[in-house]
Amino acid sequence: MKRIVVLASGSGSNFQAILDAIAKGELHAECAGLVCDRDGIGAIARAENAGVPVVVVKRSDYADVESFSEGLLSTLESLKPDLIVLAGYLRKIPPSVTARWPGAIVNIHPALLPKFGGKGFYGIRVHEAVIAANETESGCTVHWVDEVYDNGDVIAQAKVPVLPDDTPSSLQQRVLAQEHLLFPKVLQQLLSNS
Ligand code: GRF
Repeated sequence: MKRIVVLASGSGSNFQAILDAIAKGELHAECAGLVCDRDGIGAIARAENAGVPVVVVKRSDYADVESFSEGLLSTLESLKPDLIVLAGYLRKIPPSVTARWPGAIVNIHPALLPKFGGKGFYGIRVHEAVIAANETESGCTVHWVDEVYDNGDVIAQAKVPVLPDDTPSSLQQRVLAQEHLLFPKVLQQLLSNS
């Protein structure tokens, strides 16, 4: 069974969609662990509920960014991932990690990259920017991860309309619903190709 390791910083609704797809037999993989950069987040409660091991690797527990990166690398090594899945993980992945698992780290982003990606485009800000730009469609993107934010090749996208009366929050909900459908499906495709 292929081993997925998920990294998250927030509520973990995409992580939950992955766990649900595994439970339903739609995603043939084992979730070998959840790695977080902070305590007390929804993703941790979801992991505990599902019996998935959790490791919290916090920047504040390390003297500098280099030792934090080493801590993240060794945590991931210990979990022996076939695929590393960023599901709302807000930290940049260190070059030592992208170099160790080339072509095996994926992220989901709540916009149609290359638009509305890069540093500062996370959470509700993405949807605020989409509405401010008068876009008529938005969506989500699953892409490979390299050492630059939101930069790796696009693997798949799902589109949604931006409606005239949308707020950032209503748009976020519409996009998130698509994320939950798209992400597990793409992960299954990637694992079956590998
Ligand atoms: C999602 O919108 C995802 O696209 C982005 O971060 C958000 C995470 O949401 N990278 P959740 O924690 O999965 O609910």
